[in-house]
Amino acid sequence: MVSYFGDGQGGGEFDNVANSFHSYWQTVVETVADRRANPRDDVISYLTQWDRPAFTDEQIQMMTLNVVLGSADTTSALLGQAIMYLYEHTDLRDQLREQPELIRPAVDEFLRLFAVSMGAGRTMTKDVEVDGVVLKKGDRLLLSYPAANHDSVAYPDPYSFDLDRGSKRHLGLAVGPHFCLGAHLAKAISDTALRAFLSRIDDFRVDAAHAESNADKNALNQWIRIPAAVG
Ligand code: HEM
Repeated sequence: MVSYFGDGQGGGEFDNVANSFHSYWQTVVETVADRRANPRDDVISYLTQWDRPAFTDEQIQMMTLNVVLGSADTTSALLGQAIMYLYEHTDLRDQLREQPELIRPAVDEFLRLFAVSMGAGRTMTKDVEVDGVVLKKGDRLLLSYPAANHDSVAYPDPYSFDLDRGSKRHLGLAVGPHFCLGAHLAKAISDTALRAFLSRIDDFRVDAAHAESNADKNALNQWIRIPAAVG
């Protein structure tokens, strides 16, 4: 697994990422081994104790990796997009502050509008024709969640934020067998964070000229730097 992420040949930024991943992976391996030897009240310990049938260490390591990689950056990317949007749209900011019960539907509309997870690859398992386009078994596909979320047939005026569209049926958390495992948690975290933010911070200013979004949007659509001040 680690060798896939870097053999020291990539140079520069690639090696930085590979090195951080290497240290992260080491922590996962050590934590799983520790919980196997000294189980306590947590999910990894529970998985090490499961016996119908038992999981190998490698399987638990991969589950841990999947959940951690799937959860942290995605949720912070959504919150960054939401906070930038609220900075630019003071009416919406005031409305959500006055009616915090609207934050939860707003999270769904943010998930639709920003589609922070850009897409995923799939391989066709059989021939299928869609709208006259023939997709052959073995073809590689890119599922573009932003494209689906901005389909004007499903979402009239798709680039506008609309709390009334009831857009729970978005693809910001995917669809089908790989639907986001942490969907409810992601919404609960985003709801809680935005409630806390809006209730504690009356006003804030963003130095938009120096805000930076990620140049490479292969995986996520996110702000990596939002210089801001309170008041
Ligand atoms: C706003 C936050 C999040 C977004 C936008 C998001 C988005 C997604 C998307 C689009 C997929 C499908 C990927 C694919 O098609 O292959 C996915 C899968 C997944 N997500 Fe999330 N996610 C978020 C938060 C979380 C959280 C908090 C967790 C766990 C605590 C999580 C765990 C996972 C896992 C384990 C999968 C793989 C499911 C599978 O392949 O069966 N995600 N997520």
